[in-house]
Amino acid sequence: MESKGSGRFSMSRCLSSGDTVHASVVVTLLLGVWCASALEVSVGKVPFMEAMNGSTVLLPCTYSSCIGIKNLYFNWQYNDNGTFMKLCEAVIPIEGVEPRVQVYHERIEFVGSSKHNNISILLFNVTFEDEGEYTCFARNPKEKHRNHSAIFTLFVVDELKVVDNTVTTIIVSVVGGVIGLIVVVMVTKTLVLLILKKSAEKKYRDSAHRLGAAQEQPQSGAR
Ligand SMILES: *[C@@H]1O[C@H](CO)[C@@H](O)[C@H](O)[C@H]1NC(C)=O
Ligand SMILES: *[C@@H]1O[C@H](CO)[C@@H](O)[C@H](O)[C@H]1NC(C)=O
Ligand SMILES: *[C@@H]1O[C@H](CO)[C@@H](O)[C@H](O)[C@H]1NC(C)=O
Ligand SMILES: *[C@@H]1O[C@H](CO)[C@@H](O)[C@H](O)[C@H]1NC(C)=O
Ligand SMILES: *[C@@H]1O[C@H](CO)[C@@H](O)[C@H](O)[C@H]1NC(C)=O
Repeated sequence: MESKGSGRFSMSRCLSSGDTVHASVVVTLLLGVWCASALEVSVGKVPFMEAMNGSTVLLPCTYSSCIGIKNLYFNWQYNDNGTFMKLCEAVIPIEGVEPRVQVYHERIEFVGSSKHNNISILLFNVTFEDEGEYTCFARNPKEKHRNHSAIFTLFVVDELKVVDNTVTTIIVSVVGGVIGLIVVVMVTKTLVLLILKKSAEKKYRDSAHRLGAAQEQPQSGAR
């Protein structure tokens, strides 16, 4: 038992040191191949959102670059049925210096911060016409003017969605109630079965006793 355990332990140690070598090779490769030209622009893991008309939404965007930035140019564009409308634009001189942002849309405000590589914007009082694709675009002159962008899609819904939520809540409660009921029924059934089994055992033991006594009598009588 013990020797088995120690064997497994040393094997996992061997594996983990192998993984470390592996990881460092991968990191070296990434740094060598990727870092030569990698500005990354991201709108997050979920690149879309549903907003209610009249609400205020955050259009998220962040950038990262392993070679650092200098005079990073960025803008936000709205794809208005094929034509791109520039919503705002700015240049970030160096890392950590806040950009002076030109905003071309009356309901948009820049809320990002260079300290967090954040170039998100807020869109106030969303209307149904605001639905569509928003492109976060960035270009780092350090990288031979390569373009990078990410698209965030906004869906605008009206209050109907709240009703949907209520329905969902009702469904969830009903399902929860049914599951609770099933659990109660099963527990009760188990208890009842247990009690029945116990009493059946008792009956069996009792009858076995009586049977044993009945069998013993004729035997002792024969001797
Ligand atoms: C959203 O749109 C609906 C339907 O057009 C309208 O009745 C409602 O007042 C709007 N809500 C807001 C907050 O603008
Ligand atoms: C623009 O939108 C209109 C209606 O909203 C549509 O009929 C037209 O085909 C669209 N044009 C393009 C280029 O997508
Ligand atoms: C949003 O709507 C509210 C109420 O209609 C208004 O007071 C506010 O100024 C609007 N905000 C923007 C940025 O347009
Ligand atoms: C970017 O900044 C906005 C406003 O401060 C904030 O709400 C958002 O969470 C930030 N995004 C990230 C990825 O840090
Ligand atoms: C980058 O985008 C600009 C427009 O902002 C365009 O003029 C230029 O050709 C693009 N460069 C590349 C390499 O795609």
